[in-house]
Amino acid sequence: MRPIPVEELKAGMKIAKTIYNNSGQILLGAGMALKDSYIEKLNNLNIPEIYIVDEELPEVKVPEPISDKTRLEAIKVVKDTMQDIESQSQINFDKINDVIDSILDEILLQNHVVIHLNDIRAYDSYTFQHSVGVTILSILMSLNFSYTKEEIKKIAIGAFLHDIGKIKVDKDIIMKPGKLTDEEYEEVKKHSLYGYNIIKDVHGISILSAHIAYQHHEYIDGTGYPRGLKGDEISEWAQIVTVADIYDALTSDRVYKRKLMPHEALKIVEELKGTKLSPKCVDALSKHVAVYPVGTMVQLSDDQLGIVIDVNKEDLSSPIVRIVEDKEGNKITEIKEVDLIHNDNLKINRVIYN
Ligand SMILES: [Fe+2]
Repeated sequence: MRPIPVEELKAGMKIAKTIYNNSGQILLGAGMALKDSYIEKLNNLNIPEIYIVDEELPEVKVPEPISDKTRLEAIKVVKDTMQDIESQSQINFDKINDVIDSILDEILLQNHVVIHLNDIRAYDSYTFQHSVGVTILSILMSLNFSYTKEEIKKIAIGAFLHDIGKIKVDKDIIMKPGKLTDEEYEEVKKHSLYGYNIIKDVHGISILSAHIAYQHHEYIDGTGYPRGLKGDEISEWAQIVTVADIYDALTSDRVYKRKLMPHEALKIVEELKGTKLSPKCVDALSKHVAVYPVGTMVQLSDDQLGIVIDVNKEDLSSPIVRIVEDKEGNKITEIKEVDLIHNDNLKINRVIYN
């Protein structure tokens, strides 16, 4: 499996990872063969790249943290909630509660979930899918703190609704592909307070979850917004969601930028550790995202090429690699696997993109 830009797709190629449409429904399922009409559709949806089964590479299965069914339901709930706010109807807390329960139960049933790659998202549905991505990451990170299940659920609800205030901001500004003017940026910044005001009045939701929406753009050095809170003034729950929010945004395609690979996004988050971001939260993130996700093509320090076929949960930067080319560039046909956790003198030099 490897990512291929949409302009290089050809009919007959097999889809390796499910693609969702703007409503969060499955547009093209994993395993389907591409047709010209599908490629045209992907172009129309501004989807930049998709994951394709590569016949020459060993096939690897990328584990997903939650089922497609729950993910689709969650995306629908975010969308419905935003529509309820727009039409000034009552927010349906029961639906939010049920879907958070499903996400939480599915994650807790597995023993150590590792996030591999972000979904391919159509640009228009970014906000909905981003909410679900941030919720999953926040739950996983929360497992590294000594919270009760009830507390983790409140964090998950805050994460799920963290950007809900964006519905009150002018759509043209939210969807603007280019750089925002200072004035527009001031408008966007208001979404934290808008979100807090919306959530705090929903019957059944804890005020602490509402504070996550209010504080998710604050930084521990006081340079965030809207209030410029510092260190412990920011709730630990909000600090978790801040880190999850940044990581998920960096690894998602947006209109104005191409997504980063996990090792690149983690590097940026690590650079903010201790200045803008809580070290404890950044460490919690690193325990649950695969630096080199299954399916990544890598060059090892001895010049061999390989593909990541599994991760070591105790050290996510040292995966298990199946060698596909030797140092001289000759293809390897017999199965040769290297577990980097047991090979101190061998490391990953770089990620090969195409
Ligand atoms: Fe936000």
